[in-house]
Amino acid sequence: MPTKETLGPTDSQWLGQYSQVHMNVFGTPLRVMDHGEGVRIWDVDGNEYLDFLAGIAVNSLGYAHPAWVKAVSEQAAKCAHVSNYFATEPQIRLASRLIELAGAPEGSHVYFGNSGAEGNEAALKLAKLYGRTLPGASPSIGGKPARILALTHGFHGRTMGALSATWKPVIRKPFEPLVPNIEFVRAGDPIAMYEAFSATGLGQYGKGPVAAVILELIQGEAGVRPLDVAYVKKVRELCDINHALLIIDEVQTGIGRTGSWFAFQREDLTGGITPDIVTFAKGVAGGFPMGGMISFGGKLSALFTPGSHGSTFAGNPLGAAAALATLDTIENEHLVENAEERGEQLRQGIMASGNPLFTSVRGRGLLNAILLSHRCSHAAMNWALEHGLIVNAVAPDALRLAPPLIVSEQEIDEAVSILAKIPADLPND
Ligand SMILES: Cc1ncc(COP(=O)(O)O)c(C=O)c1O
Repeated sequence: MPTKETLGPTDSQWLGQYSQVHMNVFGTPLRVMDHGEGVRIWDVDGNEYLDFLAGIAVNSLGYAHPAWVKAVSEQAAKCAHVSNYFATEPQIRLASRLIELAGAPEGSHVYFGNSGAEGNEAALKLAKLYGRTLPGASPSIGGKPARILALTHGFHGRTMGALSATWKPVIRKPFEPLVPNIEFVRAGDPIAMYEAFSATGLGQYGKGPVAAVILELIQGEAGVRPLDVAYVKKVRELCDINHALLIIDEVQTGIGRTGSWFAFQREDLTGGITPDIVTFAKGVAGGFPMGGMISFGGKLSALFTPGSHGSTFAGNPLGAAAALATLDTIENEHLVENAEERGEQLRQGIMASGNPLFTSVRGRGLLNAILLSHRCSHAAMNWALEHGLIVNAVAPDALRLAPPLIVSEQEIDEAVSILAKIPADLPND
């Protein structure tokens, strides 16, 4: 491992340079990182951290997992990229694998992009094509454009389409006008959802039909807020009655993180409903940029035809090899089960820690947030960082914990013992 002497500039020297050359969209980074192994990462000054954020729920296998490194290195030595005029074996195998893991029916298809936002862009475009097939939406017979319903507090990405469905006004409003006919409905309120559907109608005040509802089952960026299972079932029912698609954004919740391959497969989140489209990204390729969507069934999938959508890097063999290695390792090392068990241990440990700063903990598997007694999440995050633990101030009064799925029992105990010591009298941020 490199020592301070063998390394180049220090953390603060690098940060000075960062601010000169990197667009200021992320604020000042907390540290300049150098390398990692397992659940641990080291900064350029040689400080060690236990990483309970995992690149925001991305590094499912932690850092430098041998199976991942081997698969990526071998694929890089064969061919990293070929363009979508050609196909590759890893891309085809990965699409089949994701369809199988999602339990999607015969005829289902996958679209690959490079990020969560791109997965959602694809889903929204598919929903738009679907919306045009609905009675009442056809412009040629005086119809009105179909609508897409999104939830308050939802986050779907920062590209123009995904941003149009992203609720937080401070990040959305400066870019308006955005994509039209996307409406926000109060999350968790079945009557509001019913009313949004009921606004469809003919005449001056009637709106176009609903093409799709897009939602996260656990609203991650909003502070890890799970939706109520009865609400989710109601949304599915309203979608069915009104021939609307249900798009479940599993960018943060997917690929084992919540203790099932996809969060929609958890009875305690959905009661067993099936989506029409699932989007994925973050953890799927263990750190390689990759995202996309699974479209359930042949009829819906057939709406995308050559030219409907695409991206140069979409499904490239290097990313696909990284994803296959990630999925194989999750399966071989029983990491979905580990996520469930370690998540339970983590939540129990936090509540048993006796820290009066912690009022409750919520989440599933290894996607959790600690609710704080007051609005000091940044101070708490910085305190933890200084004491060797990476967590995330996801809301003014909430800390998000999303460690790699490989996290061990001892590492959970270690994190809990650091969290237990966060001073309860930190000032508000
Ligand atoms: C639920 C959800 N959807 C979409 C996105 C956007 O993903 P990306 O940042 O990869 O574009 C995120 C990112 O945090 C997310 O949490």
